Amino acid sequence: MSVGEPGSSGSPAIVAFCAAVLQSSAQSREDREGLIAEDKVHVDGDTVRRVMGRHSNSVHTLLVHLSGAGFGNAPRFLGIDDSGREVLSYIAGRAGDYPMQAPVQSLAAMDSALAILRRLHDLTTGFLMPDGHARHSVPGASGEVICHWDAAPYNFVFDGTRAAGLIDFDEAGPGRRIDDLAYFAYRFAPLTSTENLYDGGWPAGIDRFGRLARIFELYPDPRAEQLPDLIVDRLGAMRNAITARRPSMDPPDAAEADRHLEIYRRDQQYIEDQREEILNAVRTRFQGR
Ligand SMILES: Nc1ncnc2c1ncn2[C@@H]1O[C@H](COP(=O)(O)OP(=O)(O)OP(=O)(O)O)[C@@H](O)[C@H]1O
Ligand SMILES: [Mg+2]
Repeated sequence: MSVGEPGSSGSPAIVAFCAAVLQSSAQSREDREGLIAEDKVHVDGDTVRRVMGRHSNSVHTLLVHLSGAGFGNAPRFLGIDDSGREVLSYIAGRAGDYPMQAPVQSLAAMDSALAILRRLHDLTTGFLMPDGHARHSVPGASGEVICHWDAAPYNFVFDGTRAAGLIDFDEAGPGRRIDDLAYFAYRFAPLTSTENLYDGGWPAGIDRFGRLARIFELYPDPRAEQLPDLIVDRLGAMRNAITARRPSMDPPDAAEADRHLEIYRRDQQYIEDQREEILNAVRTRFQGR
């Protein structure tokens, strides 16, 4: 089964854009060109076969490290098949594709996804990925852990309201815990403009700041107050990457690119407008709900 085809359970357009635009180096962008092909991922029994890129060998080293450390919430690297695709273990459940179902929007889903992310960080302090991995780090910032760099609902697999695994490590590389937390908060709180809530299927009344406070209650970080700037900068980098690729797109992809440019522009504005609310939330301890 090809799970990347339009009409399948996924939402390939947003997934492709979210991941593809995170890359900033020319080499990485080149990698992504092949990776966002529609039939990139196939499920075959209890394995997943994925087209490889230049980052893949480095990612395999990470996946081997994680399974060796007892991390059961990432695909295991099983080898390379005759077609040159990586073979990964299949994690049972459903990815949190957009628009999300109610169980994926629950607090339990967010909490369990965050616990997986935190454990990924804890198990990779001091771990060095070999050359070839995607690069996102802010110049001058030390890579204290390995970040997933795309820790969003569509890259978690859920069993009802429980996150069972984190997938799609194509963007993984050195970073700071707060880098993953910022993107996680953007996608899971979510810190998205009211006009954009439809995209993830979020109900209009979703308690964005309560959920944001909860994220930092469960996974505190002394740099939490950098959140607005980190997300605005990240969205800016995503917009730049889309804009750079847009001239070579065919009309349907260009239309999708324009839709995403507008979504991210509105979200940047929202975060600027809500800066004080965001800072209050990350300073507030979760009250229990
Ligand atoms: N190890 C896995 N276990 C279970 N399902 C998986 C696994 N890997 C991929 N999938 C399924 O395939 C879909 C796409 O996989 P993945 O996220 O790896 O690629 P992608 O999002 O299409 O690629 P990209 O984000 O790079 O455009 C997922 O949403 C999920 O449904
Ligand atoms: Mg994905």
